[in-house]
Amino acid sequence: MSTDAITVLKEDHREVGRLFAEFEKKSTSPKRKAEIVREVLRALTVHTHIEDTIMYPEVRTRVPEVEDDILESFEEHHVVDVLSLELQGMQPDDERFEPKFKVLMESVRHHIEEEETGWFPKVREALGRKELSEIGARMIAERENAPAKVPEPKGLRAALDALSE
Ligand SMILES: [Fe+2]
Ligand SMILES: [Fe+2]
Repeated sequence: MSTDAITVLKEDHREVGRLFAEFEKKSTSPKRKAEIVREVLRALTVHTHIEDTIMYPEVRTRVPEVEDDILESFEEHHVVDVLSLELQGMQPDDERFEPKFKVLMESVRHHIEEEETGWFPKVREALGRKELSEIGARMIAERENAPAKVPEPKGLRAALDALSE
């Protein structure tokens, strides 16, 4: 199996994309939809963890021309973290559950699009095959260190409390 960093990340993107498509199918039952949300949250927690801890910092150092894209990507992960954290604490029959998940899907699709067409190609061009496969191998190993649940970003509790006041 290839450990090419970009291939590893794109495979994760495909998996999440398949779950999104299944969620949107008319025939998907409410029970299955709730399961899909759990599966997506788990997959995104692992995926953003390996990007945040390995891919993004490595690329930021090695490919300075995409630094702004990396900084924007960190912020997009943060938005997804906030939505995920809220979904994690909600019951599937809450009227806000499904709309919130739809917003998460829109954000994630946009983010994936920016990674895959916006700056991954520049990374592919700038880094050698060997470098990319080393980064990928480290990301695969790092999967097991991902938190079990979406971690609460520092200061978010205060921000959410302020919003609901
Ligand atoms: Fe990604
Ligand atoms: Fe990402």
